[in-house]
Amino acid sequence: MAWQRVASFREIGVDGVLGVDVNGSPVALYRLSNEVFATSGICTHALALLSEGFVEDGRIECPLHQGQFDIRSGKALCAPATEDLRTYAVKLEGDGVFIDMERRAASAPAMANAAPNRTAADRVRATEEDNQAGIGKIAAMNVDPELSLTKRYVWPTEGLTRIPDWVYTDQTIYEREIEKIFHGRTWNYVALECEVPKAGDFIRSNVGPTPVVVVRADDGSINVVENRCSHRAAEFCRELSGNAKEFVCPYHQWSYDLQGNLAGVPFRRGVNGKGGMPADFDNARHGLRRLNVTIHRGVVFASYVRDMESLQDYLGPEVLKEFEATFDGRKPRLLGYYRHTLPGNWKLYHENLKDPYHATLLHTFLVTFGLLVAGNRSLMLADATGRHGVMASAKSERKSVSSDAKKEMRAYRDGMTLAEPRFMDFIEEFDSPWSVTMATIWPNLIIQREMNTLGVRQIVPTGPHEFIMKWTMFGFEGDDDEMTRHRLRQGNLMGPAGFLGLEDNEAIKFVQDGMQHVPGGQHLVKLDPAVAAGTSDSLISEASIRAMYRHWRAEMGL
Ligand code: FES
Ligand SMILES: [Fe+2]
Repeated sequence: MAWQRVASFREIGVDGVLGVDVNGSPVALYRLSNEVFATSGICTHALALLSEGFVEDGRIECPLHQGQFDIRSGKALCAPATEDLRTYAVKLEGDGVFIDMERRAASAPAMANAAPNRTAADRVRATEEDNQAGIGKIAAMNVDPELSLTKRYVWPTEGLTRIPDWVYTDQTIYEREIEKIFHGRTWNYVALECEVPKAGDFIRSNVGPTPVVVVRADDGSINVVENRCSHRAAEFCRELSGNAKEFVCPYHQWSYDLQGNLAGVPFRRGVNGKGGMPADFDNARHGLRRLNVTIHRGVVFASYVRDMESLQDYLGPEVLKEFEATFDGRKPRLLGYYRHTLPGNWKLYHENLKDPYHATLLHTFLVTFGLLVAGNRSLMLADATGRHGVMASAKSERKSVSSDAKKEMRAYRDGMTLAEPRFMDFIEEFDSPWSVTMATIWPNLIIQREMNTLGVRQIVPTGPHEFIMKWTMFGFEGDDDEMTRHRLRQGNLMGPAGFLGLEDNEAIKFVQDGMQHVPGGQHLVKLDPAVAAGTSDSLISEASIRAMYRHWRAEMGL
């Protein structure tokens, strides 16, 4: 039995929790009124520090998945926590809190008012020394967000062949993604140039979840500004798109020019010499926040980072080649939009399009009509960083699907035919060996070239469990009416209820449900072990997903 002094009494707030390190083991100390209790500092369910949790009614709630434990007995009280916490015996002497790591908590908890010779003055004196002696070190650990995060979120030792569920379900991880990815060193798709053809044209968009406005100024330049007033943060632009000479915030009518400069502040000098802004208020320093912008072949991207590399370098040569195969120099022409909300984590959409395995199994339409079949000429490309990808396939004639392949594919329907055979017409128009390509451009863009139906899809995350998908369907200037009709007709392949988009939307929900309601799990991405992570010429592969997570982990520092 060895009592060790681990903290001073007054350091533990009333109804609070304090994390300390005792011989390398995290311990949580709790104060309920004048009683002090100690338990293991790590949740038994996942690697979360209980010192960052919440104390209520004699319970500690884990900050990660909200499991609860009884502080006095360590008993696990609700899912997902099932295993009890270890408790430690506590005693108080003067202002010192002592614990014995080898003894469980006694049924009678340590009472502060039972400590001998303890006075208010004693407590004050003791604190100084305690802070010098190691406790400061532990407190520092808990307030250092980097250290605490990497301790809490530990990747499975197996490496990239397993992905832990917290990657998709955790609010802290989601917030870090906004900071490190969407607002970090990335080019984010925001619009097609043809959506804002004239000076004053604007359209609302997003960078990650952050609302922005894409606007063409009088000099022809395209500007991307946050949709957030410099005054009181109102989302000033309310229409989805339109044409404006300036932006006026509806709240107090601050006005901005088309480049985001603050133009006017009503009653700036007050009234009758009273009120108003400070005399040194400088309009030039209070414009809208402007993002870095680049445009390539009519596609507009924005970044929070000033010194971004060119889009060409960002994509890398192989993905750039596919980008330019679709945006081939003709001017895109807007055909229309779809917009829907998906109940899943935003990264699942990338993964779905880096997972050709599912495509051959899930989609009845795809396999029955030969758009993507195991055995077709195909490629699952990843760029050198692993963040971007292109799933590509050359359409086969239906009759060439082998009977072996048909047996493997439960989705294959032999007798199924189309009432409108023109639906599957493929008019050769691109300089590319592929009839279908789906490019995933990190972090928020999908470029769809599915025979002659063309679209960009923008991912707008709204939290760890949901994202909005904005689809913009386009053709090209110079398309005749028949080609436009063909693109629109074939557009039924995709979209929220598309012949082969529908199943993906549902599969993403199933995956999120599986993770959300059985917390603490991991899942497998082991297919195609010959390729550790990166490009594969097999459709039965998850090597591209592994490549994406290699990049994600580096960006997130996890
Ligand atoms: S919040 Fe925009 S003018 Fe006050
Ligand atoms: Fe799919």
